[in-house]
Amino acid sequence: MGDHIMAANSFSFGPLDNAPFGVLATIDAGSAEAAVNAMLGAGAQLRSELNKAGGLMVVRGLDGLRHAPGELVRISRIFGPEVENYHGTLTAARFFHDEVPEVLVLSNMAPCNHPPPPRPDPPLTQDGAFPVQFPQRGNWHTDQSYRRPPPDITLLFGVTNPPRDQGQTLFADCTAALAALDPDTRRKIDGLSGIHAPSWIGRRPEDVRAGMVPKALLAHQQPQRQPLVRVHPVTGLPSLYICEEKQMDHVDGPIEGLETGVDGEGARLLRQLLAHATQPQFVYVHEWQTGDLVIGDNRCLLHAATWYDAEMYPRLMWRTTVMGDPGAEYRGEAKSWIPQDGLAPMHGMEDT
Ligand SMILES: [Fe+2]
Repeated sequence: MGDHIMAANSFSFGPLDNAPFGVLATIDAGSAEAAVNAMLGAGAQLRSELNKAGGLMVVRGLDGLRHAPGELVRISRIFGPEVENYHGTLTAARFFHDEVPEVLVLSNMAPCNHPPPPRPDPPLTQDGAFPVQFPQRGNWHTDQSYRRPPPDITLLFGVTNPPRDQGQTLFADCTAALAALDPDTRRKIDGLSGIHAPSWIGRRPEDVRAGMVPKALLAHQQPQRQPLVRVHPVTGLPSLYICEEKQMDHVDGPIEGLETGVDGEGARLLRQLLAHATQPQFVYVHEWQTGDLVIGDNRCLLHAATWYDAEMYPRLMWRTTVMGDPGAEYRGEAKSWIPQDGLAPMHGMEDT
């Protein structure tokens, strides 16, 4: 009991700056170890605040975590029963952390060599604002949506951040976006499913336009259906569940049952939904500060990385994904990405 009160008192919760949703949790706990213990002691409160805030939480004051990737895994367990070991997922090995396989490394440095997305062209909106809306802003996605079930929650910790005004992470509130959809489109998408695919198998719009032959895949690597309207298992709220064009299947999709291909009815509907969901009133722009941990619920948010000057600045971000409560849609299903024959999930895809 005493521990619980101490933990709860270590936090203050408040709104995020310039944000239509989300919560800022500021932690004042001295050492990294004390901060982590405070988070672990306040797990139920953190989960509740995350859900109340529409699935987005920024925790500020975890500077010490930069020396302890294993602590990020402990924190991640607050948000679900299974923190994913990336060796068991459809993820290229150059992204694994050397010592902690639950940590994915996103960096422009070797061996990851992950470049930032391109700068929007033009770099500002017609009104001179930072662009967030698709298609001027690309790269909007939800993590690993090419598998069933997809991960519930993503945690991002900025170890080395580019300067302010570069390398932001954007989040779009797809619960609010769905609620604001015009009634005709809302009726149209009910019961429809998107077909999600990894970006490296030749099913992106640019691959199809170039006449590429899609990569031959094993059964567990096939594109996966996901409902366009997903009901959150905790809040019960319906949300739009879509992904950027390059993580959708433009050969046999992107929307099941609608005309296929890059110019078909399915692709037109997908682009319409992406443009709708990423309007500025639904978007939070996270400017990274040292010691920030950002927690986003993939079941109800889209997110996007943004450009930074990768020639000038090193960038290192750690990511974990947590699963275990994907909702009624997936109840009782086996993990789609686990091979039946003992092969590695990425078998035949190692060059990607
Ligand atoms: Fe992501």
